[in-house]
Amino acid sequence: MKIDALKVFKDKGEKITCLTAYDASFSKLFDECGIEVILVGDSLGNVIQGAENTLGVSMNDMIYHTQAAAVGINSALLIADMPYQSYTNAQQALMNAQLLIKAGAKMVKFEGGAAHQACFEILQANNIPVCGHLGLQPQSVLEMGGYKVQGKDKDSAQQILEDALLLESLGVLIIVLECVPSDLAKKITHALTIPTIGIGAGLSCDGQILVSYDMLGINTNQTPRFVKNFLTDSNSIKGAVNGFIDAVKGQKFPTDKHSY
Ligand code: KIV
Repeated sequence: MKIDALKVFKDKGEKITCLTAYDASFSKLFDECGIEVILVGDSLGNVIQGAENTLGVSMNDMIYHTQAAAVGINSALLIADMPYQSYTNAQQALMNAQLLIKAGAKMVKFEGGAAHQACFEILQANNIPVCGHLGLQPQSVLEMGGYKVQGKDKDSAQQILEDALLLESLGVLIIVLECVPSDLAKKITHALTIPTIGIGAGLSCDGQILVSYDMLGINTNQTPRFVKNFLTDSNSIKGAVNGFIDAVKGQKFPTDKHSY
């Protein structure tokens, strides 16, 4: 998928399908099924490394898995996460983003808003496409006091909306909204011209993403409310991915049961 096509999907009202992948076998399978965006998420800290959070994921980990996932992709847009502490200043952000692009990513994803304005500016000046990530930011789990729904009160909801508008004005091309009330995600989605991709953010987002291991029921320790296991209704991984695509395109996922 070409980056320009993201906005076309939003304008047409066609939902964008996204899954995480960390290696060539899964990225190839997802790509062949027609998933439009593949994210090499730093969730690899949880699902590949077995850690409690994503704070231990390094740039080397991200480069290794981005290179692997890139091999399997023919047409999906590959986004790679900037890991914890890899964008503490603009120069560092630029250097690390360039490494992920060299590894095969077509876009890099940052968690957070106004605090990283200088990073977004330098990437824009250097023509590196950026995806934002607002709401629950797993790299800030310690500051946020756990994995909690964000934007539940008026002030924090307003802050997330303002961050989203700021990111759009800084040239960010797509924004992941994680664990925010559906009403807030709807308001943000309508306020932006760029697409929103929801995870635990309700049906109104312009697209949906899940951690692939979650949607295949592999990660069963602590299943968040927004996860659906698509393998239970199918007898193959391809069937599960196609089920996810059909449910997202047909606006049957997420339901209220998967939203806040
Ligand atoms: O790391 C990741 O997989 C993510 C998704 C949950 C959006 O950031």
